[in-house]
Amino acid sequence: MLATLQSVLRKAQRGRYAVGAFNVSNLEHIQAVVAAAADLRSPAIINTSEKAIAYAGHADLAAIVRSLAKQVRVPLVLNLDHGRSYLAADQCLRHGWTGIMFDGSKLSYEQNVAVTTRVKRRAARFQIGTEGEIGQVKYKEDLAKSAVPVLATPDQAVDFVRRTKVDALAVGIGNSHGLPVPGERLHFGLLKRIRAAVNVPLVLHGASGTSPASIRRAVQLGICKINIDTDLRLAFTRAVRRVLRDRSVYDPREYLISGRQEMMEVVKQKMILFGSRGKG
Ligand code: G3H
Ligand code: 13P
Ligand code: ZN
Repeated sequence: MLATLQSVLRKAQRGRYAVGAFNVSNLEHIQAVVAAAADLRSPAIINTSEKAIAYAGHADLAAIVRSLAKQVRVPLVLNLDHGRSYLAADQCLRHGWTGIMFDGSKLSYEQNVAVTTRVKRRAARFQIGTEGEIGQVKYKEDLAKSAVPVLATPDQAVDFVRRTKVDALAVGIGNSHGLPVPGERLHFGLLKRIRAAVNVPLVLHGASGTSPASIRRAVQLGICKINIDTDLRLAFTRAVRRVLRDRSVYDPREYLISGRQEMMEVVKQKMILFGSRGKG
């Protein structure tokens, strides 16, 4: 069933586990996440970036998710991931998205507060929760410019949550998007201080390649939503490559089935690691 971001995260916060937010951009990806969730009776957040939406289209992504969600009892959130504008959030809300992440981390702090507040108010009219971001979870292109992490602070977290009234908060604590960066480390002391300062569910982005021990620690310290993309892309592509080594294969279903299966296995491993198995 479709569920809202805030309902799934509040339950996770009470139960002290994290819900995986898995990035998708096509039918097979969505099937992989929904099948994993149904098999493990786990909630799941189906993450769609602006690029994924540009690739597959609002209407078609929403139709696939709605159709599959109707067939299972576990709660599934259709979530905008890293929305960069009010318009992007508004379009998703109009198409039936049930969670919104607005990422103003590349704006000045005051602009981030202003646009996040606007998005939050708009989403609230649809009874949909909003996630904001402070600090920065860098991408490869940002890291190429500077590897110095832009960390969130507890004071900023308090101010940001009070002013924007977000339902979830993504924090830059040394994490970055994409393949693991040598020397990258999560600042657990900082996470602890942010957790003590604010009450909203906290979110860890860029969790591909993060060690199971670090993930467990992050969940213990109050992370309730964990975003995974790269590990799924790697799994899907690895399986497709393996099948395509056989030059006689030309039926796309043969390699897509393998990609979907391998992605589903990784999603399941993450759900078990995050503690969300049996919570749906
Ligand atoms: O954090 C971003 C996600 O990994 C989505 O990436 O914009 O290439 O779809 P994308
Ligand atoms: P990774 O690609 O590092 O898993 O990051 C995913 C993410 O944060 C999506 O928002
Ligand atoms: Zn992210």
